[in-house]
Amino acid sequence: MGKQEEYEETESEEESSDEEEEEEPEKWRRHYSSKHRILLVGEGDFSFSLSLARAFGSARNLVSTTVDTQDNIAKRYSNGVGNVRELEEKGGLVFYGVDAKEMSKHFFLRTQRFDRIVYNFPHVGFLYREDSYCQIQLNKRLIKGYLSNAKVLLREEKGEIHVAHKEGDPYDKWDLVKKAEKIGLVLHEMVPFSREDYPGYDNKRAHGDCSDAPFRLGDCSTYKFKPKRSSNLA
Ligand SMILES: C[S@@+](CC[C@H](N)C(=O)[O-])C[C@H]1O[C@@H](n2cnc3c(N)ncnc32)[C@H](O)[C@@H]1O
Repeated sequence: MGKQEEYEETESEEESSDEEEEEEPEKWRRHYSSKHRILLVGEGDFSFSLSLARAFGSARNLVSTTVDTQDNIAKRYSNGVGNVRELEEKGGLVFYGVDAKEMSKHFFLRTQRFDRIVYNFPHVGFLYREDSYCQIQLNKRLIKGYLSNAKVLLREEKGEIHVAHKEGDPYDKWDLVKKAEKIGLVLHEMVPFSREDYPGYDNKRAHGDCSDAPFRLGDCSTYKFKPKRSSNLA
């Protein structure tokens, strides 16, 4: 084969591989798109992350985190290890020991920016009675820490911070929206949260002897926050 022919063959191979690399069509699962770069915070058994990954056919745009150690995930959840394995096989990144209150300083997360940052049902664990002052204060501190750290990690344009949260007493006393406003976030939308929208998602108690058990969801919503525009600050 002459040099020219060799060159032409290489070029046409390149052309066909360009065609093969055509962009995947966008896929949606409720509020989340396969085109979003998504950070999942405070995961339980990682079944929420996996539900998105299965819907998208890939976890390449997902970074999933837990405050737990890898050992605890194995101990606390019957499907935790398997879910993490499938997420990683689908190209997702999983980090352990990520505290939502400090995550903007995390060695990897601090180098990244996300379109969606999601924490479903933040809760510090059952340290006091659910409706006691101390328990509410601890949960408020978690929420505040999460929101202010998430704000740092958000892509400026069109980024959203999501919190799935239960409605009613004592959850209303957490002052989620007020806390967000103090941090410079505005409530952009609030929509009912339905577990059925995320096939395979198992909401987990995560703490105590029944860590693998679900908790009663009742009325709950996804709160979507956006950074307050400087023009709205006045
Ligand atoms: C009620 S569970 C919800 C778990 C999971 N998001 C779900 O929807 O099934 C609350 C979660 O918050 C996590 N958590 C508690 N304190 C945290 C912190 N400081 N940073 C990150 N996650 C935390 C717990 O480990 C637990 O997974």
